[in-house]
Amino acid sequence: MTIVWRFLTGAPPSLSAAGPRDAPAIARLHGQSFGRGWGEDEVYRLLIDRAVIAHRAMSRRTLVGFIMSRLAADEAEILSVAIAPARRGRGLSRPLLDHHLRSLAGLGARAVFLEVDEHNAPACRLYEGAGFHQAGRRQGYYADGATALVLRRDLV
Ligand SMILES: CC(C)(COP(=O)(O)OP(=O)(O)OC[C@H]1O[C@@H](n2cnc3c(N)ncnc32)[C@H](O)[C@@H]1OP(=O)(O)O)[C@@H](O)C(=O)NCCC(=O)NCCS
Repeated sequence: MTIVWRFLTGAPPSLSAAGPRDAPAIARLHGQSFGRGWGEDEVYRLLIDRAVIAHRAMSRRTLVGFIMSRLAADEAEILSVAIAPARRGRGLSRPLLDHHLRSLAGLGARAVFLEVDEHNAPACRLYEGAGFHQAGRRQGYYADGATALVLRRDLV
């Protein structure tokens, strides 16, 4: 059954560190995923920043997901995470997030923060399932007036 399932759905994407060469694909996916997309230059600048930790999910040679954080001392902030629209809802984000969190822990992070639109159900479910809890609320944080939840997960 597993072999048949693999044949139908393809092998799971491989997870690895993202680098400056991934800037065009990440900028494209970011643009498909958020109202205000990041330009390629903006993504490139993030990827060459030593404080920015980024991972990608690749299906063969195609980027199907990415996650990026900024690490400062022993705290990290997740800046962005996205899965390609055609691949969403298949449980791809959790392995990518877990891989990223393990890497942050290995680099010395003891706590990870992020902001998420309280109405973004898939993202809220993802973070809740990964052990994040609410540390605050920012009313009217987004351009459309939506509230951001500030989430935290301790890594130790
Ligand atoms: C958020 C995002 C990364 C999740 O990736 P994904 O691979 O599609 O998510 P998964 O399939 O792993 O599902 C994550 C959880 O959300 C749930 N979920 C998926 N789609 C859902 C939907 N449309 N409504 C409600 N819950 C949903 C899943 O059941 C799962 O919860 P569970 O583990 O309790 O079963 C993806 O939707 C995305 O790229 N969105 C656009 C960018 C974005 O909003 N990023 C987050 C910014 S903070």
